[in-house]
Amino acid sequence: MILVTGATGKLGRIVVQHLLKDAAPDQIAVLVRDESKAADLKAAGVSVRVGHYDDLSLLGQAMQGIDRVLLIAGTDEERRVQQHQNVIDAAKQAGVQGIAYTSRTLKDRSTLANKLMEGHFQTEDAVRASGLNYAVFRNVLYMDALPQFVGEQVFETGIRLPAGQGRVAFALRSDMGEAIANSLLNDQWNQTTYHLTGTEPYSFEDVAAELTRLSGKAVAYYPVEAAAFEAQMIGRGVPPVVAQRVAGFMTDIKNGQEDEISPDLERLLGRRPALLGEGLRTLFAL
Ligand SMILES: NC(=O)c1ccc[n+]([C@@H]2O[C@H](COP(=O)([O-])OP(=O)(O)OC[C@H]3O[C@@H](n4cnc5c(N)ncnc54)[C@H](OP(=O)(O)O)[C@@H]3O)[C@@H](O)[C@H]2O)c1
Repeated sequence: MILVTGATGKLGRIVVQHLLKDAAPDQIAVLVRDESKAADLKAAGVSVRVGHYDDLSLLGQAMQGIDRVLLIAGTDEERRVQQHQNVIDAAKQAGVQGIAYTSRTLKDRSTLANKLMEGHFQTEDAVRASGLNYAVFRNVLYMDALPQFVGEQVFETGIRLPAGQGRVAFALRSDMGEAIANSLLNDQWNQTTYHLTGTEPYSFEDVAAELTRLSGKAVAYYPVEAAAFEAQMIGRGVPPVVAQRVAGFMTDIKNGQEDEISPDLERLLGRRPALLGEGLRTLFAL
Protein backbone atom coordinates (compact mmCIF):
# COMPACT_ATOMS: atom_id res chain seq x y z
CA MET A 1 0.00 0.00 0.00
CA ILE A 2 1.26 3.49 -0.89
CA LEU A 3 0.80 6.43 1.52
CA VAL A 4 0.88 9.95 0.07
CA THR A 5 1.29 12.84 2.53
CA GLY A 6 0.18 16.36 1.62
CA ALA A 7 -2.58 14.71 -0.40
CA THR A 8 -4.94 17.66 -0.05
CA GLY A 9 -2.29 19.96 -1.52
CA LYS A 10 -1.84 20.70 -5.20
CA LEU A 11 0.96 18.23 -6.00
CA GLY A 12 -0.37 15.51 -3.70
CA ARG A 13 -3.81 15.61 -5.30
CA ILE A 14 -2.29 15.15 -8.74
CA VAL A 15 -0.18 12.22 -7.55
CA VAL A 16 -3.21 10.50 -5.97
CA GLN A 17 -5.37 11.09 -9.06
CA HIS A 18 -2.76 9.36 -11.20
CA LEU A 19 -2.26 6.51 -8.72
CA LEU A 20 -6.01 5.89 -8.87
CA LYS A 21 -5.82 5.41 -12.63
CA ASP A 22 -3.53 2.39 -12.30
CA ALA A 23 -3.99 1.03 -8.78
CA ALA A 24 -6.97 -0.12 -6.78
CA PRO A 25 -8.15 2.48 -4.25
CA ASP A 26 -7.58 0.03 -1.40
CA GLN A 27 -3.87 0.12 -2.28
CA ILE A 28 -3.71 3.87 -1.66
CA ALA A 29 -3.66 5.78 1.62
CA VAL A 30 -3.33 9.50 2.26
CA LEU A 31 -2.14 11.50 5.26
CA VAL A 32 -4.19 14.67 5.63
CA ARG A 33 -4.48 17.38 8.28
CA ASP A 34 -8.11 18.11 7.54
CA GLU A 35 -10.27 15.10 6.82
CA SER A 36 -13.05 17.21 5.31
CA LYS A 37 -10.70 18.21 2.45
CA ALA A 38 -10.30 14.53 1.56
CA ALA A 39 -13.99 13.56 1.49
CA ASP A 40 -13.80 12.82 -2.25
CA LEU A 41 -10.82 10.52 -1.76
CA LYS A 42 -12.58 8.69 1.04
CA ALA A 43 -15.64 8.27 -1.16
CA ALA A 44 -13.37 6.84 -3.88
CA GLY A 45 -12.20 4.13 -1.46
CA VAL A 46 -8.82 5.61 -0.50
CA SER A 47 -7.75 5.07 3.12
CA VAL A 48 -7.77 8.55 4.67
CA ARG A 49 -5.49 8.90 7.70
CA VAL A 50 -5.53 12.09 9.71
CA GLY A 51 -2.20 13.37 10.96
CA HIS A 52 0.32 16.15 11.14
CA TYR A 53 4.07 16.16 10.61
CA ASP A 54 4.43 17.30 14.25
CA ASP A 55 2.33 14.51 15.75
CA LEU A 56 4.45 11.38 16.17
CA SER A 57 1.63 9.28 17.53
CA LEU A 58 -0.71 9.97 14.59
CA LEU A 59 2.17 9.52 12.14
CA GLY A 60 2.84 6.10 13.64
CA GLN A 61 -0.80 5.10 13.19
CA ALA A 62 -0.86 6.43 9.63
CA MET A 63 2.11 4.22 8.65
CA GLN A 64 0.40 0.94 9.56
CA GLY A 65 0.24 -1.48 6.64
CA ILE A 66 2.18 0.86 4.35
CA ASP A 67 4.92 -0.35 1.96
CA ARG A 68 5.90 2.95 0.35
CA VAL A 69 5.54 6.54 1.52
CA LEU A 70 5.66 9.69 -0.57
CA LEU A 71 6.65 12.51 1.77
CA ILE A 72 5.57 15.78 0.18
CA ALA A 73 7.61 18.66 1.55
CA GLY A 74 5.75 20.67 4.19
CA THR A 75 5.04 24.35 3.89
CA ASP A 76 6.40 25.49 7.27
CA GLU A 77 9.86 26.36 5.99
CA GLU A 78 11.26 27.11 9.46
CA ARG A 79 10.11 23.85 11.04
CA ARG A 80 9.94 21.41 8.21
CA VAL A 81 13.28 19.65 8.57
CA GLN A 82 12.27 18.32 12.00
CA GLN A 83 8.76 17.61 10.67
CA HIS A 84 10.17 15.60 7.78
CA GLN A 85 12.45 13.76 10.19
CA ASN A 86 9.33 12.79 12.18
CA VAL A 87 7.74 11.29 9.07
CA ILE A 88 10.92 9.39 8.19
CA ASP A 89 11.24 8.05 11.76
CA ALA A 90 7.60 6.98 11.84
CA ALA A 91 8.00 5.19 8.50
CA LYS A 92 11.07 3.37 9.70
CA GLN A 93 9.50 2.34 12.99
CA ALA A 94 6.45 0.97 11.19
CA GLY A 95 8.58 -1.17 8.87
CA VAL A 96 7.83 0.77 5.69
CA GLN A 97 9.94 -0.54 2.77
CA GLY A 98 10.66 2.65 0.88
CA ILE A 99 10.29 6.40 1.23
CA ALA A 100 10.27 9.12 -1.40
CA TYR A 101 10.72 12.86 -0.86
CA THR A 102 9.88 15.84 -3.05
CA SER A 103 13.07 17.92 -3.02
CA ARG A 104 14.22 20.66 -5.40
CA THR A 105 16.62 20.52 -8.30
CA LEU A 106 19.19 23.14 -7.42
CA LYS A 107 22.76 22.79 -8.61
CA ASP A 108 24.90 23.85 -5.69
CA ARG A 109 23.64 23.68 -2.14
CA SER A 110 26.61 25.63 -0.82
CA THR A 111 25.95 28.81 -2.83
CA LEU A 112 22.17 29.18 -2.57
CA ALA A 113 20.86 32.73 -2.12
CA ASN A 114 17.50 31.40 -0.92
CA LYS A 115 18.69 29.74 2.27
CA LEU A 116 15.27 28.22 2.96
CA MET A 117 16.00 25.71 0.20
CA GLU A 118 18.69 24.18 2.41
CA GLY A 119 15.89 22.40 4.27
CA HIS A 120 15.34 20.19 1.23
CA PHE A 121 18.96 19.08 1.26
CA GLN A 122 18.85 18.47 5.01
CA THR A 123 15.79 16.30 4.46
CA GLU A 124 17.59 14.41 1.70
CA ASP A 125 20.40 13.78 4.21
CA ALA A 126 17.85 12.46 6.71
CA VAL A 127 16.28 10.19 4.10
CA ARG A 128 19.70 8.77 3.19
CA ALA A 129 20.64 8.33 6.85
CA SER A 130 17.41 6.41 7.53
CA GLY A 131 18.73 3.27 5.86
CA LEU A 132 15.38 2.85 4.10
CA ASN A 133 15.24 2.26 0.37
CA TYR A 134 14.44 5.67 -1.07
CA ALA A 135 13.74 7.89 -4.04
CA VAL A 136 14.38 11.60 -4.06
CA PHE A 137 12.43 13.63 -6.60
CA ARG A 138 14.38 16.81 -7.22
CA ASN A 139 11.65 18.96 -8.73
CA VAL A 140 12.44 22.00 -10.80
CA LEU A 141 10.63 25.29 -10.12
CA TYR A 142 6.97 24.86 -11.04
CA MET A 143 6.05 26.55 -14.31
CA ASP A 144 2.75 27.13 -12.51
CA ALA A 145 4.51 29.79 -10.39
CA LEU A 146 5.14 32.00 -13.43
CA PRO A 147 1.88 34.01 -13.25
CA GLN A 148 2.78 34.96 -9.67
CA PHE A 149 6.38 35.81 -10.54
CA VAL A 150 5.58 37.98 -13.54
CA GLY A 151 2.51 39.60 -11.94
CA GLU A 152 -1.07 40.22 -13.03
CA GLN A 153 -0.15 43.33 -15.00
CA VAL A 154 2.46 41.57 -17.13
CA PHE A 155 0.77 42.46 -20.44
CA GLU A 156 0.87 46.16 -19.50
CA THR A 157 4.16 46.42 -17.60
CA GLY A 158 6.34 43.64 -18.97
CA ILE A 159 8.46 41.48 -16.68
CA ARG A 160 10.74 43.14 -14.11
CA LEU A 161 12.71 40.57 -12.14
CA PRO A 162 16.27 40.26 -10.79
CA ALA A 163 16.90 36.99 -12.64
CA GLY A 164 19.43 38.34 -15.17
CA GLN A 165 19.75 35.96 -18.11
CA GLY A 166 19.45 32.94 -15.83
CA ARG A 167 17.42 30.02 -17.11
CA VAL A 168 14.99 27.55 -15.57
CA ALA A 169 14.04 24.16 -17.01
CA PHE A 170 10.41 24.84 -15.97
CA ALA A 171 7.96 21.94 -15.82
CA LEU A 172 4.28 21.82 -14.95
CA ARG A 173 3.30 20.57 -11.52
CA SER A 174 0.83 18.25 -13.25
CA ASP A 175 3.63 16.60 -15.24
CA MET A 176 5.77 16.16 -12.14
CA GLY A 177 2.86 14.70 -10.16
CA GLU A 178 2.08 12.19 -12.90
CA ALA A 179 5.75 11.18 -13.13
CA ILE A 180 5.99 10.70 -9.37
CA ALA A 181 2.88 8.51 -9.40
CA ASN A 182 4.38 6.39 -12.19
CA SER A 183 7.57 5.94 -10.21
CA LEU A 184 5.68 5.05 -7.02
CA LEU A 185 3.81 2.35 -8.89
CA ASN A 186 6.43 0.98 -11.26
CA ASP A 187 10.02 1.74 -10.31
CA GLN A 188 12.29 -0.40 -8.19
CA TRP A 189 14.03 2.34 -6.25
CA ASN A 190 17.60 1.73 -5.31
CA GLN A 191 18.60 4.87 -3.43
CA THR A 192 17.53 6.75 -6.57
CA THR A 193 17.60 10.49 -7.19
CA TYR A 194 15.39 11.73 -10.02
CA HIS A 195 15.79 15.19 -11.50
CA LEU A 196 12.34 16.23 -12.68
CA THR A 197 12.95 19.04 -15.14
CA GLY A 198 11.62 20.24 -18.45
CA THR A 199 13.49 19.44 -21.64
CA GLU A 200 14.78 22.99 -22.23
CA PRO A 201 15.95 25.78 -19.94
CA TYR A 202 14.16 29.12 -20.41
CA SER A 203 15.19 32.66 -19.47
CA PHE A 204 12.62 35.34 -18.60
CA GLU A 205 13.47 36.76 -22.02
CA ASP A 206 12.04 33.49 -23.40
CA VAL A 207 9.00 33.78 -21.11
CA ALA A 208 8.39 37.31 -22.41
CA ALA A 209 8.77 36.15 -26.03
CA GLU A 210 6.28 33.30 -25.52
CA LEU A 211 3.76 35.60 -23.83
CA THR A 212 4.13 38.01 -26.75
CA ARG A 213 3.60 35.22 -29.27
CA LEU A 214 0.59 33.76 -27.45
CA SER A 215 -1.16 37.04 -26.59
CA GLY A 216 -0.23 39.21 -29.56
CA LYS A 217 0.74 41.94 -27.05
CA ALA A 218 4.38 43.02 -26.80
CA VAL A 219 5.80 41.83 -23.48
CA ALA A 220 9.38 42.83 -22.66
CA TYR A 221 11.71 41.55 -19.97
CA TYR A 222 13.70 44.08 -17.93
CA PRO A 223 16.32 42.49 -15.67
CA VAL A 224 16.53 44.57 -12.47
CA GLU A 225 18.84 44.61 -9.45
CA ALA A 226 17.89 42.35 -6.53
CA ALA A 227 18.19 45.05 -3.83
CA ALA A 228 16.02 47.52 -5.76
CA PHE A 229 13.48 44.78 -6.51
CA GLU A 230 13.27 43.80 -2.85
CA ALA A 231 12.88 47.43 -1.72
CA GLN A 232 10.15 47.97 -4.30
CA MET A 233 8.22 44.91 -3.12
CA ILE A 234 8.45 46.04 0.51
CA GLY A 235 7.28 49.51 -0.60
CA ARG A 236 4.18 47.85 -2.09
CA GLY A 237 3.40 46.29 1.30
CA VAL A 238 4.90 42.83 0.74
CA PRO A 239 6.31 41.50 4.06
CA PRO A 240 10.15 41.83 4.05
CA VAL A 241 10.60 38.11 4.64
CA VAL A 242 8.56 37.30 1.51
CA ALA A 243 10.32 39.97 -0.56
CA GLN A 244 13.69 38.58 0.50
CA ARG A 245 12.57 35.07 -0.41
CA VAL A 246 11.39 36.01 -3.90
CA ALA A 247 14.60 37.99 -4.50
CA GLY A 248 16.53 34.93 -3.33
CA PHE A 249 14.65 32.69 -5.77
CA MET A 250 15.46 35.07 -8.61
CA THR A 251 19.12 35.42 -7.61
CA ASP A 252 19.46 31.64 -7.64
CA ILE A 253 17.94 31.58 -11.13
CA LYS A 254 20.37 34.31 -12.23
CA ASN A 255 23.23 32.23 -10.87
CA GLY A 256 22.21 29.18 -12.90
CA GLN A 257 20.94 27.06 -9.99
CA GLU A 258 17.79 26.00 -11.88
CA ASP A 259 18.98 25.40 -15.45
CA GLU A 260 19.87 21.73 -15.24
CA ILE A 261 18.22 19.46 -17.80
CA SER A 262 17.51 15.80 -17.16
CA PRO A 263 15.68 13.11 -19.16
CA ASP A 264 14.10 11.70 -15.96
CA LEU A 265 10.75 13.48 -16.22
CA GLU A 266 10.25 12.54 -19.86
CA ARG A 267 11.23 8.94 -19.11
CA LEU A 268 8.85 8.60 -16.17
CA LEU A 269 6.02 10.16 -18.15
CA GLY A 270 6.64 8.11 -21.29
CA ARG A 271 6.09 11.32 -23.27
CA ARG A 272 7.59 14.78 -23.60
CA PRO A 273 6.67 17.10 -20.71
CA ALA A 274 4.90 20.37 -21.56
CA LEU A 275 7.09 22.99 -23.23
CA LEU A 276 7.01 26.59 -22.01
CA GLY A 277 4.55 27.76 -24.68
CA GLU A 278 2.16 24.88 -23.95
CA GLY A 279 2.25 25.54 -20.22
CA LEU A 280 1.85 29.32 -20.52
CA ARG A 281 -1.13 28.91 -22.85
CA THR A 282 -2.94 27.00 -20.09
CA LEU A 283 -1.69 29.03 -17.14
CA PHE A 284 -2.65 32.38 -18.70
CA ALA A 285 -5.72 31.02 -20.54
CA LEU A 286 -4.35 32.34 -23.86
N1 LIG B 1 9.07 22.95 -7.16
C1 LIG B 1 8.50 24.10 -6.86
O1 LIG B 1 8.53 25.07 -7.63
C2 LIG B 1 7.75 24.28 -5.61
C3 LIG B 1 6.96 25.40 -5.46
C4 LIG B 1 6.23 25.56 -4.31
C5 LIG B 1 6.32 24.60 -3.31
N2 LIG B 1 7.11 23.52 -3.47
C6 LIG B 1 7.21 22.49 -2.42
O2 LIG B 1 6.47 21.36 -2.84
C7 LIG B 1 5.49 21.02 -1.87
C8 LIG B 1 4.24 20.57 -2.58
O3 LIG B 1 3.80 21.59 -3.45
P1 LIG B 1 2.26 21.93 -3.56
O4 LIG B 1 2.14 22.83 -4.72
O5 LIG B 1 1.46 20.70 -3.51
O6 LIG B 1 2.02 22.75 -2.19
P2 LIG B 1 0.67 22.86 -1.37
O7 LIG B 1 -0.50 22.87 -2.28
O8 LIG B 1 0.85 24.00 -0.43
O9 LIG B 1 0.61 21.49 -0.54
C9 LIG B 1 1.37 21.25 0.61
C10 LIG B 1 0.74 20.06 1.31
O10 LIG B 1 1.50 19.75 2.47
C11 LIG B 1 0.62 19.60 3.56
N3 LIG B 1 1.30 19.96 4.81
C12 LIG B 1 2.00 21.09 5.04
N4 LIG B 1 2.46 21.07 6.29
C13 LIG B 1 2.03 19.92 6.85
C14 LIG B 1 2.17 19.34 8.14
N5 LIG B 1 2.84 19.96 9.10
N6 LIG B 1 1.60 18.14 8.37
C15 LIG B 1 0.90 17.50 7.39
N7 LIG B 1 0.74 18.00 6.15
C16 LIG B 1 1.30 19.19 5.90
C17 LIG B 1 -0.52 20.55 3.28
O11 LIG B 1 -1.67 20.19 4.03
P3 LIG B 1 -3.06 21.01 3.90
O12 LIG B 1 -3.71 20.51 2.63
O13 LIG B 1 -3.78 20.63 5.13
O14 LIG B 1 -2.72 22.47 3.83
C18 LIG B 1 -0.70 20.36 1.78
O15 LIG B 1 -1.51 19.25 1.53
C19 LIG B 1 5.29 22.31 -1.05
O16 LIG B 1 4.92 21.99 0.26
C20 LIG B 1 6.65 22.95 -1.12
O17 LIG B 1 7.49 22.47 -0.10
C21 LIG B 1 7.81 23.33 -4.60
